[in-house]
Amino acid sequence: MKGVIAKCLGELVENKFGKDKWEASLKEAGLPSETTFLSTQNLDDQAVIKVVQAVCNQLNITLPQAADAFGEYFVCEFAPKIYAAYYRGKNNARELIMAMDDIHEKATMTIPDAHPPRFTYEWKDNKTLIMHYKSHRGLIDFMVGLIKGVGKYYKENLQVKKLGDDKAEIVFV
Ligand code: HEM
Repeated sequence: MKGVIAKCLGELVENKFGKDKWEASLKEAGLPSETTFLSTQNLDDQAVIKVVQAVCNQLNITLPQAADAFGEYFVCEFAPKIYAAYYRGKNNARELIMAMDDIHEKATMTIPDAHPPRFTYEWKDNKTLIMHYKSHRGLIDFMVGLIKGVGKYYKENLQVKKLGDDKAEIVFV
């Protein structure tokens, strides 16, 4: 997986919970406490998942709680700085979410053997969307947290509900 996820997680934990918590998480995941991640670097999926688990243990939070914190930080603070181009011309949560499949394809195009998550969209009615998630990584909680982050970014009160390991329901206002 692209290093961007681990880099963002590190920034979030350091800024909101302190450097010591991040260093302890790295150590618990079996990495040197001074490890730094680069956005462009390719990382082993399991190594990233281990760091996520360690952060949950160190902060005493569940995986969905970590995913919600990550989603808000990534979409509202981290990505607008390094991926501003993808936000341009998207006026609301609906427009950004509908662009997510393309964005993931484009953002990973330069990585050899990248396997970005893919999304398909099924409208139940004009404000209820079922978003299908396809990835071998099984990070549906992160998809939910990131969608909630999009709602926060646009200050829209979205309702997001996990429907299983491969889909979530979004109700737009
Ligand atoms: C402008 C905003 C975003 C950008 C530029 C972006 C980009 C990326 C990149 C580069 C990765 C690593 C992919 C890889 O290494 O294969 C990733 C992972 C991921 N993204 Fe996004 N992302 C954005 C927002 C979102 C949102 C809103 C969602 C929710 C639908 C989402 C869902 C995910 C998930 C679940 C992963 C984990 C990898 C997996 O499940 O396979 N992302 N994203």
